[in-house]
Amino acid sequence: MWDYTEKVKDHFINPRNVGEIDNPDGVGEVGSLACGDALKLTFKLDANKRIADVKFKTFGCASAIASSSALTEIIKGMTLEDAAKVTNKDIADYLGGLPDQKMHCSVMGKEALEAAIENYQTGSTKMHKLEGRVVCKCFGLTDKEIETVVRENDLLTVEQVTNYCKAGGGCGGCYKDIELIIESVQGEKAQIAKKAASKRPAKLTNIQKIQLIQEIIAEQVRPALKADGGDIDLIDIIGDDVVVAFRGMCANCKMAELTLRDVVQAKLQEYVSESITVTEQR
Ligand code: FES
Repeated sequence: MWDYTEKVKDHFINPRNVGEIDNPDGVGEVGSLACGDALKLTFKLDANKRIADVKFKTFGCASAIASSSALTEIIKGMTLEDAAKVTNKDIADYLGGLPDQKMHCSVMGKEALEAAIENYQTGSTKMHKLEGRVVCKCFGLTDKEIETVVRENDLLTVEQVTNYCKAGGGCGGCYKDIELIIESVQGEKAQIAKKAASKRPAKLTNIQKIQLIQEIIAEQVRPALKADGGDIDLIDIIGDDVVVAFRGMCANCKMAELTLRDVVQAKLQEYVSESITVTEQR
């Protein structure tokens, strides 16, 4: 028996937004019954080009249903631009986590969303858009797809890759290629981390630290939030703990927790100190 969170169980037992929209603006279908999982996602936009309604039909296990349900809850009300930024990690985080062996369910949700957006933008109805060279012939996965999963989830082993996207879970003929992809992504990441560390000042006084945090929020964070109708205020700084408050659209956004971690905290850790943590004033 899998160790599911209460939220996974809730979304499996009471899935939200099940079904199919008539005359949808976008349709995305991924997976296949032969592989054991399949998902069809349909959405409708409102006059402001936000996702007014979204529904799913999933064939699969409890985590596939819960991931699809969570995805629809996350993207409802978003613009397609924002929805396109949702990662499989966001889906898993929304559910309070998924067992490693079930992470491919969250990846399937992200792929269905990508396919539905692609369908809206180009009219393409391809079940699965193949970009790059097919590496895993058993599951039809390309180097680009495996690379994205490795990068977004910081994967280190072939076994993890199999858990997240099934690649490597058949004959094993693609192990070497998957290992090379992992090595290349992790090498790139190490370079980026080295570069970021070199940008950080060696030692800051408290005053310098406060000034730098204010500067990064004003120049690197606020413009991105304002572009989406939101804003942010710096409330307090206690040691390495930074307290902020979201304003405007960001105040009621379902993705606020992720913005806090992946945008605000990530920027401050990159430019000020790796030990910075950011919390939201409630
Ligand atoms: S080619 Fe990847 S498992 Fe067979």
